Amino acid sequence: MEQELLNLFQSIKNDSTGLILSAESLNELNEIKLDFLGKSGRFTAAMKDLSKIPAEKRPEIGRLANEVKVSIEELIAQQEKKLGAKTASVGVSSIDVTMPGTLPPQGHLHLITQAIEEISTIFQHIGFTHVRYPEVEWDWYAFGGLNFPENHPARDDVETFFIDAKVHAENGRMLLTPHTSSGQIREMRKGKLPIRMLNIAKCYRRQSDVSHSPMFHQFEGLVVNKNISIANLKGVLDYFVKSYFGVNRKSRIRPYHFQFTEPSFEVDISCGVCNGRGCKLCKGGWLELGGAGMVHPNVLRAGGLDPKNYTGFAFGWGVERVMMMKQGLSVPDLRMLYSTDLRFLRQF
Ligand code: PHE
Repeated sequence: MEQELLNLFQSIKNDSTGLILSAESLNELNEIKLDFLGKSGRFTAAMKDLSKIPAEKRPEIGRLANEVKVSIEELIAQQEKKLGAKTASVGVSSIDVTMPGTLPPQGHLHLITQAIEEISTIFQHIGFTHVRYPEVEWDWYAFGGLNFPENHPARDDVETFFIDAKVHAENGRMLLTPHTSSGQIREMRKGKLPIRMLNIAKCYRRQSDVSHSPMFHQFEGLVVNKNISIANLKGVLDYFVKSYFGVNRKSRIRPYHFQFTEPSFEVDISCGVCNGRGCKLCKGGWLELGGAGMVHPNVLRAGGLDPKNYTGFAFGWGVERVMMMKQGLSVPDLRMLYSTDLRFLRQF
């Protein structure tokens, strides 16, 4: 009787081990568990037989019974874990459709594009139309029509990118336009007056160092009408400076020289840190913005307009420059703006 019971517990252990290890689902495993440890399971039934054994023999068989039970329970727990992990990775039931989704990485406009949009909106409010003229241009529009003499240094290969193409009888050589002023003649030649143009485009110059890039952006304003004066220019400059940099900023003009404007000016804005009093940052209270002036009579003529009837003003500034001035941004190398380094671009 005792020996039989010992054998029974041993075979329960063997049978259950085989079945548990070959179970393929959690349901199957649960059934095996009931078959052995359930109320009418094989192990439970064997335990009932144990009470019929003489008292002195019980401890030995009891120890074995206990060992068998623990080993079945441990093996079931182990197998449950294994099957559970499998179900989670393939089971449809593991997908919770109410969970929030994963947001795909989101980009934004490049900081120069943002500046271009902001600048054009500011000028649109006072009636300027945003236009864009060719970046691959004839010498005539970039220099000749803008009153540059034949021997002006800007017309040298060292300064400007000329293109090896056929020379046009009237327009001369082809080049990558070094400034947006080439749009002035094209706009005047459309013959639609009054003119309130904002030409924003890429410009190209033979320069490349930490503060210069061979490609950069300018925005060029041109206003032509009857009786346009320096006062109008000053009004527009003030309006832009206050709209773009802030209401407390002031603008000033200083005499300068450009071939295509007379008189010509250099435009400054008051330093945002010291408000024009002078500090370490600005050295004198003012920061240089760019060029401006009254359209030269020769340029009006080149554009097909009579200087006796019309006058105008123009200004042309660097988009990168004003954007960096506004952001208080000092990049160690200007060329970083055009690199695709996300660590830099993500900051804007
Ligand atoms: N074209 C000039 C430059 O690139 C700027 C300018 C534009 C000056 C219009 C006067 C009037 O420096």
